[in-house]
Amino acid sequence: MPPETRTGHRIIVVQTGEAYACTSDESLLKGMLRLGRRGIPVGCVNGGCGVCKVRVLDGSVRALGPISRAHVSRDEEAQGYTLACRVAPVGPLRLEVAAKLARPFSRTTAATAAVPLPPLHPKET
Ligand code: FES
Repeated sequence: MPPETRTGHRIIVVQTGEAYACTSDESLLKGMLRLGRRGIPVGCVNGGCGVCKVRVLDGSVRALGPISRAHVSRDEEAQGYTLACRVAPVGPLRLEVAAKLARPFSRTTAATAAVPLPPLHPKET
């Protein structure tokens, strides 16, 4: 796994192919907000409301705090679902936005569907 860069790990949102940087001591949601995309819901930022639900498809995260089981069941967690406000990346990763968080990203999904995803690691081809 490549080391963290000065700006953070490379995070790719698979629905749109957008990439953002996120350090290992900040939440995936905090980094995602720097995309500047309108409509990204910011709720409790405490793992309790579920609006920031994502599914980690490739890569690992570490917990920054507990998450509500009302919004991420143990079965879902086993499938990679988590809450972006309560986890930080431990390396580059690909994620899928889910639930309410998917709405602001779905507006451009059709327009970007044919665009190939950027590499997770800079040297990937
Ligand atoms: S913002 Fe409420 S659970 Fe993440």
